[in-house]
Order: sequence, then C-alpha cells, then structure tokens
Amino acid sequence: MTDSSTTLRAEPTIYELSSPGRTGVTFPDPDVPRVKLPKNLLRKDLPLPELAEVDVVRHYVNLSKYNYSVDGGFYPLGSCTMKYNPKINEDTARLPGFAFTHPLQPIETVQGNLALMYTLQEWLKEISGFTALTLQPAAGAHGELTGVLIMCAYHKDRGDTKRVKMLIPDSAHGTNPASSAMGSLEVVQVPSDARGNVDLAALKAACDDTTVGLMLTNPNTLGLFDEHLEQVIKIVHDCGGLVYGDGANLNALLGILRPGDVGIDLMHYNLHKTFSTPHGGGGPGSGPVGVTERLADFLPGPLVGIVEESADDEPPLFGFVTPKKTIGRVKAFHGHFGTLPCTGRTACVRSPSTPC
Ligand SMILES: Cc1ncc(COP(=O)(O)O)c(C=O)c1O
Repeated sequence: MTDSSTTLRAEPTIYELSSPGRTGVTFPDPDVPRVKLPKNLLRKDLPLPELAEVDVVRHYVNLSKYNYSVDGGFYPLGSCTMKYNPKINEDTARLPGFAFTHPLQPIETVQGNLALMYTLQEWLKEISGFTALTLQPAAGAHGELTGVLIMCAYHKDRGDTKRVKMLIPDSAHGTNPASSAMGSLEVVQVPSDARGNVDLAALKAACDDTTVGLMLTNPNTLGLFDEHLEQVIKIVHDCGGLVYGDGANLNALLGILRPGDVGIDLMHYNLHKTFSTPHGGGGPGSGPVGVTERLADFLPGPLVGIVEESADDEPPLFGFVTPKKTIGRVKAFHGHFGTLPCTGRTACVRSPSTPC
C-alpha cells in the first residue's frame, strides 16, 4: 500500500547514482594472503550499483517511506489489522538474545529462547483450556490449514475415511473456506438465523457421517457471540465431527471463557491480534494451534518440550519433541519467533497473577 501523504518524487535510481569505483566501505589491508575468488562466484552480468554509504542509506530510508504503516497513519483494515503494538514490545523482540540467535544453533546455546517458547505454549494452553499446542503456524489462516490437516489425520487414523465435508457458517471470515478447500475438503455453507447465530436446523441437516467438522469463529465476524454455542458443538459432535475454533477474535473471550472447556476441539490463536507483534505495519503474524487430548498426537512437530528434568531448583533442559502421529512440519524452523517475545510480554502484563 502506498502512503497517500508521501509525494512520489522522480528520484534518481541507485543505478543512475552509481559511479564506477565508488564504494561505501574501505576495508583495512588484509593480514592474510590474498586469494582469488572462485570464478563461478563472480558474475560479470550482474550490474550491481556502486554507491557511497549515504546513497545506500537514503535509498532504503526512501523505500521505507513508501510503505504505509501505523507509525504514519490510521490502519483502516478491520479485524485483520495488527492493532496496537506498544513500542516497548518491539524492544523486547530486539533483545540481542532473541534477535541474534539462529534456529539451527545447538539447543544448549538457546535455552532462554526455548524456555520462552515452552512457557508461552503453557500459557496459551492454560488460557484456552487445551492440552497441547504448536507455535509453528505463521498466521491465522496457516493455523486453520494446520487444523484441517490435524482433523483429517484424526479421522483417518480411526479408519473413518468417508469424511470430506467442512461446515462453515455464512458469517465466517474468507480464510475459513479457503483453508478448508486447500486441505482438499468440500466446503458446505451453513446459513445464519435472524439473530446472526448459526441456524441450528440447517446445521443439523448438513451434519452427517461425511462431516470432518465445523469451523466456527466466536464471536463471529458480525461481532456476535453465538447464543447456542453448546448446542452447535453438540450437533457436530453427535455426527462424529470435530469443532474447530477460529480464535482470531479471542480478545473478546480472554479471561471469560476457555474454548477447550466448552467442547471446542482445536483452535488457532492470532497472536498478532490478541497479543502483539514486533512490526507496526503488516506483520509478521503467528497462528499457534491448541488441541484437546485426543488430537495431541497429530500436532505438527517438533514442539518445544522438556528433554531432561533437573535436580533441585535448576531449570530443566529444553529441546524438541515430536508427537507420535504428527502431520509433519508446517513451517520451516519454529514459526515467527519475533512475535513470541512480544506476545509473552503482553500476556504477562495482562495476567498479573502470572510470574514473568
Ligand atoms: C475471523 C478471522 N479468521 C481468520 C483470520 C486470518 O488470520 P491471518 O490474517 O492471521 O491469516 C482473520 C484475520 O484477521 C480473521 O479475522
């Protein structure tokens, strides 16, 4: 998106500013013998501009000004907005121990990061009443796809191979049918009644032994809490389906209702909405998925776990564990790590009883 308050000027490009031999850095004389770089690393056809440091800085600062952000103005999208992200959370994400670690480092060298991830897994499970949780999914929609794959794996594991339909209320966010279709499911739309609730008669009629489950956002995208939540869940369970909670609007429930306690089988969280993310503009997101006991074995792996208990008051050794019937990885490494310290900070501030 382009910031309308920014005047697009016809500035010279970095290629026009380039001048042969100009450079932004001057290296000291080497104290080791010079060697020739391998020929195939030097591409003559790659016209890299040659610029002074100040030109490079100006180039990137100018580019950043073309990007619309909450720092520059009101962010007009609805529920998908990154909302308010306190700057102090960005400081948290930028702490060198968080920002400068590499996901392939030996676990002994990143125990702090793993402890943070483990603790956050525990907190997210606790606030929503789930047994197990993955931090891997990159955002809400990715959490939905992960959930669809888990639901399908669960039915398949029980030899229940007829189930191909996902029921989706007509008030759902667009990502719900999209992620179900991406998981190769047939999408069946369930109408709302006159008060904006899921129409119970229509749900009953749609629910049968080919139903994988229902994807339900609560409060829904109309901003309404479904008045028959327990009946909705019962109808789906009675036909052998699972209830997926789209937790994008979890903000409204935090501290009031735990979805796992009322029969929701699995749910994604939009950490970048309910909690916080380091970037004020459009990302990154994070869409952890929490599940109840019967789905725990199907979570993507690896999860962060305790791999060795310690004696006395010493912290345990954190590492990675893989659920028995895992659907496999859904994301490189361990998700969008930068969002996790921000979320941890916000979750901590929001629940004063939690030691943090
Ligand atoms: C109800 C609902 N579900 C799912 C999503 C998708 O989440 P994400 O944008 O993180 O993929 C959103 C986005 O805001 C949403 O509002």
